[in-house]
Amino acid sequence: MNSIPTWLLIFFCLTCTEMNLVTAQTASKTLPTPIANTININADQRIAKISPNMWGIFFEDINFAADGGLYAELIKNRSFEFANPLQGWKTSGKGKLLVVNQEAGHEKNARYVQITAVAEPLLLTNEGFRGIGLKENDTYRFAVAAQAPAKNQPRITLQLLDTLNQIIASKELPAFDKEWNNYSLEVKATKTIEKAKLRLSFQGSGVVNMDMISLFPTDTWKKRPGGLRKDLVQMLADLKPGFLRFPGGCIVEGKDLANRYQWKETVGDPLNRKIMVNRWNTEFARRPAPDYYQTFGLGFYEYFQLAEDIGAKALPILNCGMACQYNTAEVVANTQLDPYIQDAVDLIEFANGDLNTKWGRLRGEMGHPKPFNLDRIGVGNEQWGPQYIEKYKLFEAVLKAKYPNIKLIGAAGPSAAGEHFDFSWEQLKGSSVDFMDEHYYMSPDWFLKNAGRYDTYDRKGPKIFAGEFAAHGPDGATSESKNTWLSALTEAAFMTGLERNADIVQMACYAPLLAHVDAWQWRPDLIWFDNLKAMATPNYWVQKMFSTFKGTDVVSMLSAGKTIIGKDSLYANAVVDAAKKQLIVKIVNASGKETRQTLVISSREELNKKAVLHVLQHDRLLDINSLQEPGAIMPAESIIAVRGKRLILDIPKYSFSILVLDMKK
Ligand code: AHR
Repeated sequence: MNSIPTWLLIFFCLTCTEMNLVTAQTASKTLPTPIANTININADQRIAKISPNMWGIFFEDINFAADGGLYAELIKNRSFEFANPLQGWKTSGKGKLLVVNQEAGHEKNARYVQITAVAEPLLLTNEGFRGIGLKENDTYRFAVAAQAPAKNQPRITLQLLDTLNQIIASKELPAFDKEWNNYSLEVKATKTIEKAKLRLSFQGSGVVNMDMISLFPTDTWKKRPGGLRKDLVQMLADLKPGFLRFPGGCIVEGKDLANRYQWKETVGDPLNRKIMVNRWNTEFARRPAPDYYQTFGLGFYEYFQLAEDIGAKALPILNCGMACQYNTAEVVANTQLDPYIQDAVDLIEFANGDLNTKWGRLRGEMGHPKPFNLDRIGVGNEQWGPQYIEKYKLFEAVLKAKYPNIKLIGAAGPSAAGEHFDFSWEQLKGSSVDFMDEHYYMSPDWFLKNAGRYDTYDRKGPKIFAGEFAAHGPDGATSESKNTWLSALTEAAFMTGLERNADIVQMACYAPLLAHVDAWQWRPDLIWFDNLKAMATPNYWVQKMFSTFKGTDVVSMLSAGKTIIGKDSLYANAVVDAAKKQLIVKIVNASGKETRQTLVISSREELNKKAVLHVLQHDRLLDINSLQEPGAIMPAESIIAVRGKRLILDIPKYSFSILVLDMKK
């Protein structure tokens, strides 16, 4: 954390008349007379409980978030199953490479390559996902499924190459058996390279067959072989998420039903998971990614495990028999919906079932005999219209009968308001839906104007899951915006409103989560990464600040008797953390002017003499963080002195502040 800027001065006084000023930092400028605006906070007046799962994260394999991102595999098209079987691979030299398709009996992974080497070398090179990230002195595990059908086989050397094709690590592979077998070896990188390549050199005559050519860092998250990228998972864990939504997003729906996400295809041995083209592959003509596929190496087991690792509740969203309504809008006939509903039933068994059930047993065999304690599930993503309502109700009837304790999430459509939104709400309000999943990709201005959105919502209806949101600026145009400070600041303002309404808003997550700087399709995103590094956006810091200081109860915070939603561009809310005995005050100043506010606190408890102030502030609204300058916009933390219960707070322009006051003696 940075230190607090010197111009930020916090004053605390015993009474208003008897000003007893204590500066947090050296006072370096003349101050205007205090006592301008008064904010009353009553820490004893509890208004709403805050769900422990309030702030979560949304994962979707978009922007190379899984393959090429969180899933740490470094070889693209390792199984030669892309539509173009040699996409990502190059051959040179002498000899012959043949792509063999075994077809029947091998539907999940039909192809392999057959290399016939001659005296002179044949080279087979993989380019990785926009290159292969290697770190000096880190160890990488190479693996391959292979056989040498005839007597002669070539000598095969694994080489890691830098950008000039210089060999920076090399190791000889063992001889292969006559039957298919798995082989692996470890190799250490001697240089840090962002865009390295892997090359196999075949020398001497003979024939070998190879498949599933793979390279992983050994230093994955929790050192799991074939696991997840450690730095990215750490950034997710640091968000202390209350839940993890997975696998999306539109990827749940697919462009057509064949392209929908089917969780059963993503579990069991990763070598037998049938790959599928990623729906974001050609979604946007301006950002084509013809090499974007889903290997499902990060499948539903790894997802449940990840959620457990980072202390988040799992929140799967399942296909409800409808493909993306922006694409084909293909739907399955309601009479044919059973397999889709069965998938949901079976997923619950996979997550929670006994080891003597079919799917519970598979979970146990994969390494997690204990249940994952799944307690909520989403039916459809951004669906709308009568077909959705009919399908939702068919799902609901079965799921509520079989698993009455599983909470159901229904879709409110793709937009924050309008015909589809109203229709879904109207139709589902009276059902047993537990949460409505509302999405808003809107302008920064919309986020400010809607900070009071839930103040007037019906308290008797389903709870709200703000299941995808992000400020797209300046006009709300989707898919091409940047993670500006303006977007983050206005999201923070809006989130004070979500928090104030925690009695009905019980889950919220920013979307999308991850983006590769060289392979993205959709902007803005919470975390950006390249093959070596990752970077927190200002939006990430906002999410982290809310989540870290979420508290347990909303308390009263009023200015002139009103909640603080935009008057003088201030947006604020206060909570207490009953367990930690803290009063937590969140204030957004969305204006370009510093403002002085007097906080008058009433509480049975005394306040400790020291408080912690976290301030996220930046002068230029259109600035962003980058991998080159990741810390341009980040929170600063300072310890400040507290005397009494009347505080004078100078709130910097364009800032989001969290003041954490300890109520213990
Ligand atoms: O977050 C990106 C996309 O936005 C999601 O896939 C979809 O649900 C929404 O339209």
